[in-house]
Amino acid sequence: MLFLKNPQEAHLQCLTFKKEGKSIGFVPTMGALHEGHLSLVRRAKEENDVVVCSIFVNPTQFNDPTDLAKYPRTLEADRRLLESVGCDLLFAPQEQEMYPAPPVLRFSFGHLEQVMEGAHRPGHFNGVALVVSKLFHIVQPNKAYFGQKDYQQYLIIRQLVADLSFPVEVVPCPIVREADGLAMSSRNRRLTPAQRREAVILHQTLQEAKQRLLNGVSVEEVKKWVASVFAPLQKKDIRLEYFEVADGYTLSAVKDIHRHKEVVLCIAAYVGEVRLIDNVLLFS
Ligand code: PAJ
Repeated sequence: MLFLKNPQEAHLQCLTFKKEGKSIGFVPTMGALHEGHLSLVRRAKEENDVVVCSIFVNPTQFNDPTDLAKYPRTLEADRRLLESVGCDLLFAPQEQEMYPAPPVLRFSFGHLEQVMEGAHRPGHFNGVALVVSKLFHIVQPNKAYFGQKDYQQYLIIRQLVADLSFPVEVVPCPIVREADGLAMSSRNRRLTPAQRREAVILHQTLQEAKQRLLNGVSVEEVKKWVASVFAPLQKKDIRLEYFEVADGYTLSAVKDIHRHKEVVLCIAAYVGEVRLIDNVLLFS
């Protein structure tokens, strides 16, 4: 596996792949890799001649400086994992090289960024769109792989690619979970063993909410039920930030699930200091 830190060098290497007639599958990450990330790399490997993975803890997408400071950084272990799944090039740039000067460009994604993660993490998707655009220019991928774990991010990237005509196919990939159902996340490693056991409540709540909706319970009632599940958990330092039932394409609020082709149930909650998100699709 090639390992490059310099954006120009990475760009030249990717152009060389292209000149050799090789298709590039790209998996952007922030590192602290787990099976969720590796599933994206494996899929990219199946569908392309070469796989490029980037590791960059992107400062412009963190609205909470503590979250940025505490974000796990495990480059050596990540390198070994990527090697083991056949990644061809790891690109891990320094902050100075990605942002030689503070960026001034601002994206606007309309309704897509006004709800859920966008509403609770101001500026987050602007930072994501900025860094993904830079990475797409550097890597020039044919296909780019994004986890449905970050469902709203996936929709934002699709919009970015459509509006800016990036010649990239965005490939959504299913959520990889732990045995008990907790969605894998780099942030899970910040949970204490007790918090780790409690964290499964996000997944359990989504599953039960999905069943209730499919059984005909109204969105309003299901929202009340979710609030009632989380209210007593405050004493265990578990706090619900939001639970939303949204259209699977536009993220507009859903009142009647049968009026939509796809519906996504999204949840965000703090377990201690660690903010976790998860989601489930209703019809697939
Ligand atoms: P990161 O959180 O490292 O995630 C990298 C990719 O892995 C994202 O597409 C994410 O959705 C996917 N992923 C994470 N956990 C997953 C799981 N349990 N199952 C399936 N896929 C999973 O998302 C980012 O980084 C950043 O915002 C980035 C796009 C790299 C821009 O900085």
